[in-house]
Amino acid sequence: MASHDHEASVEAVRSYFDAFGEGEWERLAESPAGRVSFELHRRLLARFVRPGMRVLEVGAGPGRFTVELAALGARVVVTDLSPVQLELNAAHVAEAGAEQAVEARALADVCDLNAYGTAEFDAAVAYGGPISYAFDRAGDAVGELLRVVAPGGPVLASVMSTLGAYRQFLPGVVGLMRSYGPDATDRILHTGDLRETQPPGSGQHLCRMFRHAELVALVHAQGGRVLDALASNWGSLADPEALAELEADPALWARFLDNEEECCREPGALDGGTHLLVALARYAVR
Ligand SMILES: C[S@@+](CC[C@H](N)C(=O)[O-])C[C@H]1O[C@@H](n2cnc3c(N)ncnc32)[C@H](O)[C@@H]1O
Repeated sequence: MASHDHEASVEAVRSYFDAFGEGEWERLAESPAGRVSFELHRRLLARFVRPGMRVLEVGAGPGRFTVELAALGARVVVTDLSPVQLELNAAHVAEAGAEQAVEARALADVCDLNAYGTAEFDAAVAYGGPISYAFDRAGDAVGELLRVVAPGGPVLASVMSTLGAYRQFLPGVVGLMRSYGPDATDRILHTGDLRETQPPGSGQHLCRMFRHAELVALVHAQGGRVLDALASNWGSLADPEALAELEADPALWARFLDNEEECCREPGALDGGTHLLVALARYAVR
């Protein structure tokens, strides 16, 4: 497979999210499955973030989880690679009346958080794929997230899932097989790297997806351990019509969300979502 220049990849991701703009705010709200994904991510925050915690949010985007962190009583340093996403973050967080929780906003690349000190934060959040946008430097990204958090403090992150995406986006996989040949889609299945078919400069969405076991190995290699892991999502990806029917009934929806969270933690479901959601901590001060 062709090797890709890291800086060109990062620049392509920045351009993609600058252009995607407000679409990123809609991503977790526009469909029932998106709302399930939002709820699973929100619940993981609620499980680990306590009032008064100082949190570094990396790849914060337009701020859905900045608002949630504020609601949990955290103080947040908001960062992103995309200047447009940072501006949207300021607007949406102000609109939600949560700006008092934001200590600062800054441009930052997850691979290089050297503006922040070792163990400076009580927790770090990197939801929606910052580690997936680090490509070959995903290990550096995990290492930096673990470094800035006090020992034992959680890093809460989600990455794109290779197997879940293969299943969920099968029509797209068939299209890629036709355009690029089955060897190319086999390579994506084995490396998770979409840059062969969505190269930097094409304006398409590019990222590196992971299998759960690969992500765990990456975390261990960086001196971290996994505190919690779940798919996002699982049962809710199967049938949009059935999901819409469930959502229309508040009692059934509440029950379904609890069941979904339980199913998503099963080992047999971990690789089945479009995303892998994890809570990490480092073993000791490095
Ligand atoms: C899919 S959005 C997720 C936004 C938000 N965290 C959420 O879950 O709703 C991914 C965000 O990560 C940012 N991002 C991409 N590559 C990054 C990198 N290398 N370092 C930091 N942020 C990055 C993008 O600009 C974008 O705002």
